[in-house]
Amino acid sequence: MTILITGGTGTLGRLVLPLLRRTGEEVRVLTRAPRPPADGVAYVKGDLVAGEGLDAALAGAEVVLHLAGGAKGDDVAAANLVEAARAAGVRHIVFISVIGADRVPLGWFRNKLAAERAVTGSGIPWTILRAAQFHDLALRTARAMAKLPVVPVPGGMRFQPVDARDVAERLVELVRGEPAGLVADLAGPSVYGMGDLVRGYLATTGGKRLMLPVRMPGKAGRAYRAGENLTLSGGTTGGRTWEAFLGERA
Ligand SMILES: NC(=O)c1ccc[n+]([C@@H]2O[C@H](COP(=O)([O-])OP(=O)(O)OC[C@H]3O[C@@H](n4cnc5c(N)ncnc54)[C@H](OP(=O)(O)O)[C@@H]3O)[C@@H](O)[C@H]2O)c1
Repeated sequence: MTILITGGTGTLGRLVLPLLRRTGEEVRVLTRAPRPPADGVAYVKGDLVAGEGLDAALAGAEVVLHLAGGAKGDDVAAANLVEAARAAGVRHIVFISVIGADRVPLGWFRNKLAAERAVTGSGIPWTILRAAQFHDLALRTARAMAKLPVVPVPGGMRFQPVDARDVAERLVELVRGEPAGLVADLAGPSVYGMGDLVRGYLATTGGKRLMLPVRMPGKAGRAYRAGENLTLSGGTTGGRTWEAFLGERA
């Protein structure tokens, strides 16, 4: 089976590649910055937002694993991808989305929901996995906040960070399985406030900071306080913990 992976050069994609290669699948990566083939993976130039290079990248692909994402344009990227994938006769598209895509009123979440709708309305059999925030992003956030002399801690904002390796393993199962629709959300094993994440980071690095409780205003603040970015029941849970990740990386 030939699989086209978008976002195969990113944090998550780099973890998926060796797992998929180990299963013996033919793997091709779409990237804006192509490079020579390595470890059995071919890199094809294309830009999802600009809609460039997609037909060539999709030629002969049976399955698409859509992991590419950015701060903006995920809706446009997905629309361009599914149009080209339909024309190429792709038989299964697997998309990584985010928990709360349908509930958190912020632009990035709305774009993810629009991207989901492009996939579900494509006519191509599909699978969508909504994941929580990856440990890597939680670490980047905690590190940036810990640089401030006083750390603002939005009250009531909670996270369930998940290890990107757990997400990668789940995606490989989904890619190799039959189209499954919207599958159970994947979150990490524990729930943390922003202050907990920063304190955990500081404890690992030996730092100390004053924390200042703040209130996130508006609809987005209300959604976070209501836990709309969380899956507290009915989801699946990655096995790797934030504490173990911090021990490895911080
Ligand atoms: N990070 C999180 O906490 C989290 C949580 C839930 C869901 N997600 C979603 O999971 C996916 C992977 O996240 P990540 O953290 O691994 O992302 P990342 O490290 O930021 O990597 C982004 C990837 O997207 C590709 N990309 C961006 N714009 C593109 C474009 N216009 N055309 C083609 N490729 C493009 C990049 O490829 P090149 O630079 O090589 O072109 C890169 O491989 C994203 O869709 C993200 O929204 C992330």
